Amino acid sequence: MDTNFNNNDLLYSNETLEEIIENMKTQEPCRILPHPQSERKRNKIDILKMIQDPCKTTTIIGPMVRYSKSSFRDTCAHFDGDIIYTPMILAREFIRNDLARISEFTTNLDNVRGKGLIVQLGVNNSIDLIRTIELLKDYCDGFGINSGCPIKQQNDEMIGAQLIYNPDGLCEMVSAVKSKYGDEVKLEVKIRIHDNWDQTVELCQRLFIAGVDWITVHGRGKNTRSSQPCNFEAIKYIRGKLPSALPIVANGDCFKLEDVKTIAERCNVQGVMAVRGVLNNPAMFSGYEFTPWKAIELIVHYSIEYGLHFALLQHHLHCMLSNSNPKPNSKILKKLMGNEIKSTFDIIDYLDAYFIVKRYGEDGFATAIDVPYI
Ligand SMILES: Cc1cc2nc3c(=O)[nH]c(=O)nc-3n(C[C@H](O)[C@H](O)[C@H](O)COP(=O)(O)O)c2cc1C
Repeated sequence: MDTNFNNNDLLYSNETLEEIIENMKTQEPCRILPHPQSERKRNKIDILKMIQDPCKTTTIIGPMVRYSKSSFRDTCAHFDGDIIYTPMILAREFIRNDLARISEFTTNLDNVRGKGLIVQLGVNNSIDLIRTIELLKDYCDGFGINSGCPIKQQNDEMIGAQLIYNPDGLCEMVSAVKSKYGDEVKLEVKIRIHDNWDQTVELCQRLFIAGVDWITVHGRGKNTRSSQPCNFEAIKYIRGKLPSALPIVANGDCFKLEDVKTIAERCNVQGVMAVRGVLNNPAMFSGYEFTPWKAIELIVHYSIEYGLHFALLQHHLHCMLSNSNPKPNSKILKKLMGNEIKSTFDIIDYLDAYFIVKRYGEDGFATAIDVPYI
């Protein structure tokens, strides 16, 4: 089903694309926190070269709306994993609202040190896309277009998974970016599969012609729940029909390090992306079966340093502690999510009541593996 999609409808002035870009140079750039903006530029990582490396399967920590904020990203960066995503950021909000910019993307020039950082965008037209890229390109190593989000409100606006049914619109966005920036901006598209896999193949072929650098295929359809198993046969089929020059990343049901090898071999893909697995265990790609305690100390540290909302830290800790060893009993876990927790201070008090929590700078900070009960 192709929905009517016309970029001109989305132009909100009579400016040409070139004029818009020129005018944007006077707009306030995104703020980078916690360190003030400086002359120093981010040392860019060549993520495409990484993905094209035939000797290695690239491991990727995929996008999670709400959760892939800078404190989580920097926690993951202490462990293996080659590329780390931001959550999906709505391009339209980002370019129009300073507060959206602050809440959606905070970083510092060392964020995810040494790993690739991809900003994922929810977007339905090339004007918003290029405006956002212009604001953010110095602070990341590439961009992704989310064509996999199944949420109805986004899909109604032709953002997310609905884009897989709108190849013209999606390819137009990719080719607009690539004609403007060429290799300077690396661009990925993350898609879901069609019921008819050949439609997915055709979409990927068109994206390749439009200049996409690589495609991430989440092996589920637009309406498939994540409780349903990922369809690796579909990913393998799609990969097999595409030119080898187009790297493909498989996404779905990667929950431990061994899954990377199994998925890569089964689907013959260049990279494997994990999402829920890493939410539960940011050290997953380093081969930890359980979340090591050091990851908990790190996320607490970064959340305070960068100012993560306490409810998000609470959720992160619940996911991570539920997957730690020896696992806290249900009473302790329940207390973390209880009504008494109303702030980051309460979370710290909670942790100090049950565990030995080392602070940044203290001897032994971020070294423990097993949960250190008091
Ligand atoms: C909490 C949560 C947030 C998500 N947010 C995004 C998002 O912002 N962008 C996106 O493309 N997919 C998002 N997804 C989907 C995941 O990126 C991924 O495609 C899906 O979870 C399948 O991978 P997995 O089996 O490794 O979890 C999200 C998934 C979860 C669980």
